Amino acid sequence: MTFITNFKSQYPKPFSINLRQQDAPTLLFTPKVTFDLALAVVNKLVFAEKSRYLSEAEVAVMKGAWDDDEYDYIANNSTYSLNYLQRGIAPRLWDLLSETIGRGQRVGKKNLRIILEQFTEEYYIYNFATNESQKSVEVKGSIPSYKANFYGRTEELAQLDELVTKQRCVMLVGVAGIGKSALAAKFLENLSAEFQPNFSCLIWKSVSHAPSLQDLVIELIELIQPCESELSLPNNNTQAIISLLIKQLRSRNCLLVLDAFDALFQKNVFQEKLDYSLFFRRLIQDLNQSCLLLTSRFLPDEFDDLITPDSLIQELKIEGLDTKSAIQLLTEKGLTDKENCTRIAKVYRGNPSELEAVVHRVNHFFAGNAKLFLDNKSTIFSSKFEAALNQMFGDLLSLTQRQILIYIAEEIVQSQKSIGFSKLLKDMKSKHNLVTTLELIKAIEKLERQSLVETIKDPITQEISFNLQPIIKKYIEIDPIGAVHESNNCYPKIAIAS
Ligand SMILES: Nc1ncnc2c1ncn2[C@@H]1O[C@H](COP(=O)(O)OP(=O)(O)OP(=O)(O)O)[C@@H](O)[C@H]1O
Ligand SMILES: [Mg+2]
Repeated sequence: MTFITNFKSQYPKPFSINLRQQDAPTLLFTPKVTFDLALAVVNKLVFAEKSRYLSEAEVAVMKGAWDDDEYDYIANNSTYSLNYLQRGIAPRLWDLLSETIGRGQRVGKKNLRIILEQFTEEYYIYNFATNESQKSVEVKGSIPSYKANFYGRTEELAQLDELVTKQRCVMLVGVAGIGKSALAAKFLENLSAEFQPNFSCLIWKSVSHAPSLQDLVIELIELIQPCESELSLPNNNTQAIISLLIKQLRSRNCLLVLDAFDALFQKNVFQEKLDYSLFFRRLIQDLNQSCLLLTSRFLPDEFDDLITPDSLIQELKIEGLDTKSAIQLLTEKGLTDKENCTRIAKVYRGNPSELEAVVHRVNHFFAGNAKLFLDNKSTIFSSKFEAALNQMFGDLLSLTQRQILIYIAEEIVQSQKSIGFSKLLKDMKSKHNLVTTLELIKAIEKLERQSLVETIKDPITQEISFNLQPIIKKYIEIDPIGAVHESNNCYPKIAIAS
């Protein structure tokens, strides 16, 4: 193995610590260099220099070169054309890699693997040799492993990378099944595979069982630093137990993921919500270098005033997969017809969980024929999505919010286009005498945040208009548990074409 002496001058970031060259041979610990490990290192360097990660197409070419596959084989196993990969992507990728990992050598398809293996190995040795504290990132709790391949989300992963170092709390918000947990898990998996200076401990905790505040704090303390006996916890004094947790979190740089955070705010118990809200405010304030990453279907009302441009907490709204990634997912599950896969991806707005449910039914009922399914003009939703909307309409949405949704659904059926803001204001006010403009604006803002309405801005007039994604429109039409059209609602059931 050749040890590189000019790393530091060449790579001021992230190799920012003085290299103690004489230590290197004795501190050797080299992980087996897998493609994923090498990719994580390349992505880190590319991000440091270009503020972006490698695209899906670039990764496909790199993986093909790593496996010594021919270009036509790489293209056949991807959603890209041979010409695009070989002539569009590859030449620029070799330029980029030569610049970032080549160290004077030209990187190409034939020598990529050997250069990358050597580079990754030395990158690790360098990090080990220079900073003992970066030796290992401890992972506590079990990060869910999603068996299926993980597609897209390059941009969101890059955003997360940046946000967790700047903010004390980042909240991933998006509808049921959109991929919040998968994204957070992938992010943690990436962090655990690389040596990064920001966190020494990664913690994964699901709160979908909606524990009480005291139980949650105790569970976290036991996860972070299992107590020798329960007696070492301050006796039943919640504030003292919280102080202990904060002390633990402050003692090292932790990234704490609380998955299914919305479960804590779904109960209609005012005191519990207030306790949780005060707890999280205190936690965020006192975290020091640690960071909290929350996944949630909605932003709890209690957090409304915390999300301001310069606050310590930031919301990251998670939308569906981009069309290419959605097609990859559909293809992996057995749908091969690209044109109809694109149509399905659009109708279901790239929601991976809904796409999985659709494929399952297309395979089961339509013999895998996506065109037959689409020609049937039926919009379907999964039982998970239905349960989430039951809860939204049943417990969480205000009367005004429900009225707005019904109004938009009704108008879309009639006009077949999105509904302008001024028309919505005028119509809603004439139908509901007591509703004010402020009330309507606040209700729409909330619906936007919960991804229940889609907002479109006219590029010329700048006027915004609202639309509903087909599965939400369908739910409002069917109203499975009667939560949409409650008795105190003056609307009759509406007829909406599927
Ligand atoms: N980027 C992705 N590539 C492939 N599959 C994905 C991706 N993201 C999510 N999925 C799949 O979609 C399904 C739903 O994802 P996930 O559980 O992360 O959604 P969620 O937003 O956390 O849902 P919930 O609100 O119910 O917690 C899972 O089966 C997951 O494997
Ligand atoms: Mg989840």
